[in-house]
Amino acid sequence: MEEAKITIQDIASLKGKRKITMLTAYDYPLADLVDKAGIDIILVGDSLANVVLGLELTTMVGMQEMLHHSKAVTRAAKHSLVIGDMPYESYQINPKEAMKNAKRFIEEADCDAVKLEWFDKCLEAAKEIIGSGIPVMGHIGLTPQTADKIGGFKVQGKDISSALGLIEQAIELEKCGCFAIVLECIPDKIACLITERLKIPTLGIGAGIHCDGQVLVTYDLLGLFQRFKPKFIKQYVNLSELIEKAIHDYKREVTEKKFPAKEHSFGISEEEFKKIFISLKP
Ligand code: KIV
Repeated sequence: MEEAKITIQDIASLKGKRKITMLTAYDYPLADLVDKAGIDIILVGDSLANVVLGLELTTMVGMQEMLHHSKAVTRAAKHSLVIGDMPYESYQINPKEAMKNAKRFIEEADCDAVKLEWFDKCLEAAKEIIGSGIPVMGHIGLTPQTADKIGGFKVQGKDISSALGLIEQAIELEKCGCFAIVLECIPDKIACLITERLKIPTLGIGAGIHCDGQVLVTYDLLGLFQRFKPKFIKQYVNLSELIEKAIHDYKREVTEKKFPAKEHSFGISEEEFKKIFISLKP
């Protein structure tokens, strides 16, 4: 039996009942597998830049690429809630522009919600988007789009002012109507304090066990992205190794004339072939 599509209300009601699962996907086949595995939320993350497009930074991906990949994901997602990750400069310019771009994720790519990373005018952008009826997931802690402003790709909230700042950001995001918040790379005890103080769910990545749910970049989980490996990822399988072996096997079999074999080829009747062959004679 096909599972019903997860709603924003379902996600809200899971807090305190069971852990929420979230994974990234960027294309149809992976989204189909994630969806069929019963994962609650698929994030079309701007990590697309690093893990799929081979770019150095997530700030290098734009609206066109994000919409293109989001469309493929929503075609596959029958069960999971799909969130489009708003790329750098799609919501930082001004709140109206933020709302217009958020709408594109919903109307053009069929996403169910958008995610935006914390920045100094984040609340204004979030309010405008939520005011137009689009559900928003917040993202605090290590926010890669503005890593240069928070001291680089480092654990956040390790001292009193930074930890209190994160707690305040989380409370403000909840107040302005976000339905959930990603906590990235913060000490587990600070993630616990935030999770306890909010009515909305928190989804951790490098934020310990006390969050209401967990998110990972699927390519990290599958061992498909090897360029860098943060401490917080867990690789469940090494697909790179399996794929590499399969490609080598293919290369060997083609060069050794073992593939394609008889069972991969199409036949023709002897009689028909004879006629063709004769007609070709000079
Ligand atoms: O882009 C992404 O994959 C993300 C997750 C790490 C939360 O934002």
